[in-house]
Amino acid sequence: MKEMIPTYTLNDGMRVPTVGFGTDRFKGAEGTLTIKQALNNGYRFLDTAYAYENEATVGKAIKESHVSREEIIVSSKLPEVHHPYDSAVPAIQESLYRSGLDYFDIYLIHWPDPEQDKYVEAWQALIDAQKWGLVRSIGVSNFHPDQLDRLKEETGVLPVINQIQTHPYYVQEELIRANEEHNILTQSWSPLGSRMADDLLENATLSDIAQQHSKSIGQIILRWHLQLGYMPIPRSSSPVRQSDNLNVFDFELSDKEMTTISSLAKPDGDIYG
Ligand SMILES: NC(=O)c1ccc[n+]([C@@H]2O[C@H](COP(=O)([O-])OP(=O)(O)OC[C@H]3O[C@@H](n4cnc5c(N)ncnc54)[C@H](OP(=O)(O)O)[C@@H]3O)[C@@H](O)[C@H]2O)c1
Repeated sequence: MKEMIPTYTLNDGMRVPTVGFGTDRFKGAEGTLTIKQALNNGYRFLDTAYAYENEATVGKAIKESHVSREEIIVSSKLPEVHHPYDSAVPAIQESLYRSGLDYFDIYLIHWPDPEQDKYVEAWQALIDAQKWGLVRSIGVSNFHPDQLDRLKEETGVLPVINQIQTHPYYVQEELIRANEEHNILTQSWSPLGSRMADDLLENATLSDIAQQHSKSIGQIILRWHLQLGYMPIPRSSSPVRQSDNLNVFDFELSDKEMTTISSLAKPDGDIYG
């Protein structure tokens, strides 16, 4: 029997595991197997998106797994092409048809696309989708503080989550402060730097800290996210690393270690520039 993952409580009362599983790039038969392995390894939160073109894979993995639907939090995202209200509602329904699920637990706006400037319409569609029972909770991704303020001013409803790129080379302090002020959970995408942040997973400072705790660098980074109150959603195709990434609750980083890790931030740490 796998140990239960501790939970965070979102600002609407929903409880989510403190570590989730990123599913980007997992598609088809191999992807289904990988996601089933993740569920078998104890993950109970799956992050997908309309744009990943794998909502069907996620839904199939859930159906074929030994875990009941009610135990799993499934989170998907609306792409910018469907921000206009009349396009957003059918897109959410289409997401559901693809996944074969009756509802999503969480649905996010993937990014605000400020040039198009239709994200408030998209937010209204998510608010209505929640009322109609298509989704249980609603949030955003890659939103800046002024964009969060605008959602609140124009609809009165704040997101439960803001999913943003965060890892030790990229610490988005101002944005995270705004999330905290609004009681919005910071969910960290590419929490391990996606193997694109050069040398993060071989960093000498992190390696020293890892040795002190008899843990891997990946586990040290994930623990750093948790102690800051963020929810990392690491992706791994390896059953061993999937397990390792959940095995982060039996040790604690000191204040000094936390500060040292945060000080690794680089001005060019954004992996997508
Ligand atoms: N909202 C957005 O705009 C946005 C953007 C990007 C990503 N995301 C979400 O965030 C999720 C995670 O981000 P990501 O997939 O970019 O990157 P990530 O989780 O930071 O890193 C994944 C990479 O790290 C490796 N890895 C995993 N665990 C490891 C460990 N313990 N030690 C060493 N290497 C390890 C994986 O390789 P192996 O498979 O070989 O283990 C893979 O190459 C995505 O899957 C997606 O759901 C959202």
